[in-house]
Amino acid sequence: MTSAVPLALHRFTLTRLTPIVFVLAACRPAPPPVPVPDPIAKGRAIFFNETFAGNGRTCATCHRAEDNFGLSPAFIATLPPTDPLFVAETNPDLAQNFENPRLMRALGMILENQDGFDDLANNFNMRGIPHLLALRTSVASAAGPRTGWSGDGAPGDGSLRAFATGAVIQHFTKTTNRIAGVDFRLPTNDELDALEAFQLSLGRQEDLTLPLPLKGVVPARGQELFRDNTVGKCNACHFNAGANADPAIFGAGAGNLNFNTGVEDLPDQPADLTGELMPPDDGFGTPGDGTFNTPPLVEAADTEPFFHNNSVMTIEGAVGFYDGNAFNESPAGRLIAAATGSGIELDATQIEAIAAFLRVINALENIREALALLATPNPARTAPSSANVALALEETDDAIRVLAGAGLHRDAVRELQTVERYLRQGPAGDPAPVQAAVQALERARADMIETP
Ligand code: HEC
Ligand code: HEC
Repeated sequence: MTSAVPLALHRFTLTRLTPIVFVLAACRPAPPPVPVPDPIAKGRAIFFNETFAGNGRTCATCHRAEDNFGLSPAFIATLPPTDPLFVAETNPDLAQNFENPRLMRALGMILENQDGFDDLANNFNMRGIPHLLALRTSVASAAGPRTGWSGDGAPGDGSLRAFATGAVIQHFTKTTNRIAGVDFRLPTNDELDALEAFQLSLGRQEDLTLPLPLKGVVPARGQELFRDNTVGKCNACHFNAGANADPAIFGAGAGNLNFNTGVEDLPDQPADLTGELMPPDDGFGTPGDGTFNTPPLVEAADTEPFFHNNSVMTIEGAVGFYDGNAFNESPAGRLIAAATGSGIELDATQIEAIAAFLRVINALENIREALALLATPNPARTAPSSANVALALEETDDAIRVLAGAGLHRDAVRELQTVERYLRQGPAGDPAPVQAAVQALERARADMIETP
């Protein structure tokens, strides 16, 4: 009964106000568009431009859009001496214990203090710069997020957010004192959110479903060997050629796992041959347990060198690694042998077939990305379309390189060269060359895979 009063009051109020509301609505101009927060665009700007008041580097100093958001020794060789990558050569405060310029230039290796900053002269790892593609598919595991070659983040909780903070402290500092607020500033929570959103938008957003209907007989055989748990055994750890473990073997939701596959035990590693100090890299944790994090393979073929220590230059060499002693005598190799009755034993033809498969799925991914870049709108990249055309050219170039590098799919290569000619005509407001390039990309794809 008591509620009758307020209800009545409410009705009364409404009735009294209604005509006024209508009048107001009729007179009011259209409301201004509500600004849609775009964390990806914000993250992109930070990634490319923000120096965090440090030594001049940005995230893109090492993770270059034109080099698959990684950085290879071949790309480093094209940079001018003033590039902020080379601060250890140009800034006296960073000359000692910050980078090894010889290993950086020869092998694309970066100095990392994974186990802390207490003994800079002796306690460090030299690691390659990974691409940042398909992170959406390659970070989650049942034990939490896994980032970096050893999966333990930089250091933090292993999340992409924490990784960015670690990267600023490691790579952006003005001196090796690394005092926040003096040598650099730490990213804010907003900046970390935006960086995460941007990085998650890069590259492939979902895993493939193998087997693919490949047309080339050698890549198709390579796919069989890759998936065969009695021969290549690759699919056990790189399920669907991604970064996650086969749920049938490791359990549903196992995700992106760590293994000690023995890469550290490879003999005659190029970096060791230089005679430069290369302390052993103990992998995950402090002290480390010797394990490293499984990378996705769809993106591998055009992002050489391979493995955490850039020890192998060709994709054939990286596949061949699994036939050798370093792998078969490693904890992961022994695990595979115990589970399947034998280690991994591959002959030259099989190594080339598996590599051909990895080259073809890489080229197909390059084509997918190029098509996405040429399509509008493109939510991941708000840059002007000439920038997208330039990146589509890089993707096309990578596809040509990985296919031609092993004499694969010559018709597709010819189509891709046509794509490059069209795209070099530039966007310049004329959609015709871009349209022709799109059609040639589709023909190149159709040469490699049955399309519906
Ligand atoms: C001086 C070069 C350099 C700079 C600058 C740099 N990185 Fe990296 N990045 C690396 C190296 C080397 C690794 C491998 C580190 C490891 O294994 O722990 C890496 C790894 C990563 C990874 C892990 C990728 C994966 O697959 O797990 C992410 C994410 C990343 N960097 C993001 C960033 C962000 C964000 C910034 C800017 C705040 C940045 N990096 C700046 C060199 C660099
Ligand atoms: C026991 C799990 C496991 C198996 C089986 C396995 N891998 Fe790997 N793979 C890994 C891990 C972990 C790494 C990272 C190792 C490192 O850098 O130290 C890796 C790295 C790689 C890389 C380098 C990628 C890059 O971006 O540098 C390639 C290529 C590769 N694997 C191909 C294969 C192929 C081909 C097979 C089958 C012949 C295979 N892997 C079987 C776990 C595995």
